[in-house]
Amino acid sequence: MNNNYQEVAKIALHKASRVLKFYFNKSITIKTKSAHFDQVTEADIESEKVIVQVIKKFFPRHNILAEENQYQGTDSEYTWIIDPLDGTNNFTHALPVFSISIALAQKQKVIMGLVYNPIRDELFTAQAGKGAFLNEKAIRVSENIKLKQSLLITGFYYDRSEHMKRTLKNIELFFEQGIMGIRRFGSAALDLAFIACGRADGFWEFCLNPWDFAAGKLILEEAGGKVTDLEGKSIAIKPSYIVASNGQIHRAMRRVLNTADA
Ligand code: IPD
Ligand code: CA
Ligand code: CA
Repeated sequence: MNNNYQEVAKIALHKASRVLKFYFNKSITIKTKSAHFDQVTEADIESEKVIVQVIKKFFPRHNILAEENQYQGTDSEYTWIIDPLDGTNNFTHALPVFSISIALAQKQKVIMGLVYNPIRDELFTAQAGKGAFLNEKAIRVSENIKLKQSLLITGFYYDRSEHMKRTLKNIELFFEQGIMGIRRFGSAALDLAFIACGRADGFWEFCLNPWDFAAGKLILEEAGGKVTDLEGKSIAIKPSYIVASNGQIHRAMRRVLNTADA
């Protein structure tokens, strides 16, 4: 793969990071999207703007799939998939857990992913077939093989009706298995990166969008983990139900998740 892609993505990330740090913990303009708890701020918008500017400058013909705006499609086989601020709800509460996620897909295959937490200065990167890294050091998933020994992460999709009910049922069922605990950090991109570096063992969430998972999924897979849908099938670049793990507990996680849906 063209190494320039990663260099350009890093330039974009650092510019976006400056934007987010500028707005973090300040009073900012917030608008709502699907519901009052689904927010977009001037930080999301500006972060996306600087990322897209950088990408367009270097690769004007590439496609852009980003959360906050629709961009004119081109006939290029490359698509940049961007979440300019993953964890907006944390951000508006001055909770320092959020990230910027940038992935590059060639046709339908993600070939590069970066997830950056500006507050901790943690940059997770991966290129297809080349491993995954945290601040340039290779990372691996945990070696834990037992669901009982697992620390899991979940997320609450903005739909608070059926999806929420299923998630709450899943939580109950996992605790019945005697797991170590469940966390909800509020940035799906970081959740996947945390599993990639062994800080947790598994993650599930309903209906994530490609910008939430594209980069984190590649990073996790390159770190030895597994990401599928509920049936164990691979995930395409479209809104998806995500089951992610260190690989070892994947089947056990899916078994529990499918019980809730029976
Ligand atoms: C959200 C976060 C959150 C997840 C939601 C996402 P946003 O993204 O990733 O962890 O639970 O489903 O929509 O809106 O903060 O970019
Ligand atoms: Ca997101
Ligand atoms: Ca976002």
